[in-house]
Amino acid sequence: MIRLMTIADYDEVFDLWINTKGIGLRSLDDSIEGIAHFLERNPNTSYVSEVDNKIVGVILSGNDGRRGYIYHMVVGEKYRKQGIATELIDAAVKALKAEGITRVCLNVLESNEQGKQFWNKRGWNKLDTLGFYSKGITDKENTFLIKPF
Ligand SMILES: CC(C)(COP(=O)(O)OP(=O)(O)OC[C@H]1O[C@@H](n2cnc3c(N)ncnc32)[C@H](O)[C@@H]1OP(=O)(O)O)[C@@H](O)C(=O)NCCC(=O)NCCS
Repeated sequence: MIRLMTIADYDEVFDLWINTKGIGLRSLDDSIEGIAHFLERNPNTSYVSEVDNKIVGVILSGNDGRRGYIYHMVVGEKYRKQGIATELIDAAVKALKAEGITRVCLNVLESNEQGKQFWNKRGWNKLDTLGFYSKGITDKENTFLIKPF
């Protein structure tokens, strides 16, 4: 069963993220304050999947008024290949569409072969014509919690 994610889910979701290879977690962005900030701005587009009241899958998704973004999609190892991620993506995309969004973007670590294959198979294309640029604009520490690559 899937439902909207709220900040009350943070501990369980973080536990899933930190125990999954291929997910880049940052000390500031992925702190409870960081995720609360994201969910306040995007309350209707992130989902969790539950089995026996336990969170086994998550998709963090939101938009900036122009593009939709998907982050940190994880399904617990024991629960994979049952269609849970597909259900989470469908729900997030539907919710983004309802907010007027026409294109959704995501990042996959270059080293995450399984993740890259997963998205490719579903028609999500890597844009070879674009480079992804970013710059930290805080004085606070926002380092990777575990080396993701
Ligand atoms: C990528 C990830 C989220 C996929 O989760 P998932 O719940 O296993 O995904 P799905 O079940 O929807 O689809 C996975 C495969 O299972 C298959 N499947 C779905 N339901 C099935 C069923 N009932 N029986 C058998 N196979 C099934 C799908 O066809 C799919 O196969 P394909 O990719 O070869 O087409 C999961 O592997 C994961 O958490 N990986 C680590 C984190 C990560 O890499 N995230 C993505 C990068 S952001």
